[in-house]
Amino acid sequence: MYSLIRKLLFQLDAERAHHLSLSAMRWAGQTPIMHTMLQKWYAMQHPCLETNAFGLHFANPVGLAAGYDKNGIATQGLAALGFGHVEIGTLTRLPQIGNPKPRLYRIIKSNAIINSLGFPNEGVEAFLARAKSEEPRVKSQELRLQNTDLTPSTQHFIQGINIGKGKDTPIERASEDYVALLRQVAPYANYVTVNISSPNTLGLRQLQAREMIEGLLKAVMAERQTLAITLGQRPVPILVKIAPDLTSDELDDVLAAIMTAGADGVIATNTTIGRLDIPKSFVALKGGLSGRPLRYLSTEMIRLIYKRTAGKLPIIGVGGIDSADAAIEKIRAGASLVQVYTGMVFTGPSLAKQINRGLIRECKRLGLKNVVELRGQD
Ligand SMILES: Cc1cc2nc3c(=O)[nH]c(=O)nc-3n(C[C@H](O)[C@H](O)[C@H](O)COP(=O)(O)O)c2cc1C
Repeated sequence: MYSLIRKLLFQLDAERAHHLSLSAMRWAGQTPIMHTMLQKWYAMQHPCLETNAFGLHFANPVGLAAGYDKNGIATQGLAALGFGHVEIGTLTRLPQIGNPKPRLYRIIKSNAIINSLGFPNEGVEAFLARAKSEEPRVKSQELRLQNTDLTPSTQHFIQGINIGKGKDTPIERASEDYVALLRQVAPYANYVTVNISSPNTLGLRQLQAREMIEGLLKAVMAERQTLAITLGQRPVPILVKIAPDLTSDELDDVLAAIMTAGADGVIATNTTIGRLDIPKSFVALKGGLSGRPLRYLSTEMIRLIYKRTAGKLPIIGVGGIDSADAAIEKIRAGASLVQVYTGMVFTGPSLAKQINRGLIRECKRLGLKNVVELRGQD
């Protein structure tokens, strides 16, 4: 079925096709009968899939990566595709239109995408206005927020919110953006991701340098502590999303900063500025490469992070996952959870189900009670 839909979608400009799919998922999420049907069809429930990470309970370890639903307009529909968590964003303080088009290319031969979108999004205020007006959604979030301790519950998905520096914010003032965004989104987030690794916002990746990340995380962690007191809630988990292009020394610096600041985990990885395994005609395109060519690069980053932190830092593994085997590879390298984006564009909406089904099969084959036992096996 999806091969037919894919043929039609791939006739369209990539951004147009994306908006169409997103609108369909928004509609499905808001239409009770469609929502129920999707859940029945795609959701997988099994004790071996249930995962705890950074104090949150996930019905399964497969999530939708940031960038797919930048404004958080279709989270209910997307979650119904069987994801244990959905990460929305990247949100910035002000609305921004992103980089000039064309800025999104499918590389069909390589199951890959190059994008140079540059965080086009409606801005955090629009997100908040929608979150406040969509009563049922806010309610379900409140339920989830009460449910952030380790209470098993398979009814609700976890919502992460990914935040980033605005295009016009000078790099020296980036912390102000992240702190303000954290303050605004925390009541709607089960976890918040500090994105310092998109290659499409000038200077953003500089925030991964030691002095920069130390200052940034200090400010962010202080704010989340203040918020926890003000809101009377457990501190919202803070994750840091990193690039696959860091050198070994740079990675050490980033990990040291994350551990010192007491952030809760790391998302590895964002897109790469490298140009591995793609046809020559695409090599010169600007932007970040994702999908199959990124798979091993991101797995190796996960392996390094797991080793260097002795497995103490929870990792969400992302990059080139388009099958259960690819997800298992990331978990065996050290990931607690995984995320997909490009894989879903090429494989279709059943990807989370396929992966979860494969994880159950693997647990049974190896006689494991829970997928967590696979973590770091390699
Ligand atoms: C079109 C597109 C837009 C993206 N936008 C964002 C974004 O706004 N914020 C972010 O943190 N990552 C973004 N990403 C990166 C993905 O979340 C993910 O880290 C990366 O694509 C690797 O996973 P994949 O190979 O499964 O796509 C984007 C990726 C793509 C393909």
